[in-house]
Amino acid sequence: MADNKRPESMARITTPALAQAFIDEQIAALRAQIGDKKVLLALSGGVDSSVVAALLIKAVGKQLTCVHVNHGLLRKGEPEQVIEVFRNQMDANLIYVDAVDRFLDKLAGVSDPESKRKVIGAEFIRVFEEEARKLEGIEFLAQGTIYPDILESGPVKAHHNVGGLPEDLQFELVEPIKFLYKDEVRVVGKQLGLPDGMVYRQPFPGPGLGVRCVGAITRDRLEAVRESDAILREEFAKNGLAGKVWQYFTIVPDFKSTGITDGKRTYDWPVVIRAINTVDAVTAEVAELPFPLLQHITARITSEVKGVNRVLWDITPKPSGTIEWE
Ligand code: XMP
Repeated sequence: MADNKRPESMARITTPALAQAFIDEQIAALRAQIGDKKVLLALSGGVDSSVVAALLIKAVGKQLTCVHVNHGLLRKGEPEQVIEVFRNQMDANLIYVDAVDRFLDKLAGVSDPESKRKVIGAEFIRVFEEEARKLEGIEFLAQGTIYPDILESGPVKAHHNVGGLPEDLQFELVEPIKFLYKDEVRVVGKQLGLPDGMVYRQPFPGPGLGVRCVGAITRDRLEAVRESDAILREEFAKNGLAGKVWQYFTIVPDFKSTGITDGKRTYDWPVVIRAINTVDAVTAEVAELPFPLLQHITARITSEVKGVNRVLWDITPKPSGTIEWE
């Protein structure tokens, strides 16, 4: 385990200069490890895999192939941003896999939270495996493992779920940020020129919006989660809350209630707003939100999101509620 311990001499990366020194060092190390061979990376668009992609693009350019799997559970605009940043701006080899139907078909009727996680994880490995088999001569697999993943501290679950590849598809691992803490990954990401929206992104669970569409996922309710989440994020950004609140999102439960729109009775879903502050996700407190903002977000969600007639605000700390609803 010796090479899984952060070297004591390693200074905390807090400034652009320290980030640049780390980047230069890693580029040299990656070139030494990979040589003229090929490397594969599952690129979710989260800050960890994005920083690894940007480092590898600088180090070995087109020897890197990134695979972005759209499982249909990503936030609004995320797949497009991955394509824009990595394919269009950084000129990376990027394979975009539209696996939306596959995932949603597999998830149909699955209501238990842990079963949903298992279906998503297993299907992800299957899709990634299929893409890996299509490519020739890959010898390395890059992963955005960070130091807290190694330490396994706190309940923020490891989301690097490509470890389950079959025996005949084993690659040598490339893990350039495995000794970094999250704040250091962000400083490095900023120095690598990644957009702020990627670098300062709030934590997002591996199963994505899937655990915010409570119970068995349906396409219409999933769209309601995605659209209401986009409105919430837009309003938080506009009102200076985006960098201040640790995690904020919407949930759509699987029950309906009566309402009234344009003089007509409706029977639609509620959207729940969750916004919390925490240090380590083990405990969390509810972020205090200005009431006029809550009213404005409610008005937008009920008028802009299809199938929704009510907005609720979850004011439960952790404990007793977990941060996610599933
Ligand atoms: P809970 O809901 O357990 O969440 O209070 C604590 C933190 O972990 C995130 N979370 C996950 N992250 N895969 C992940 O990668 C998961 O299955 C998962 N479930 C919860 C959650 O968003 C919060 O930041």
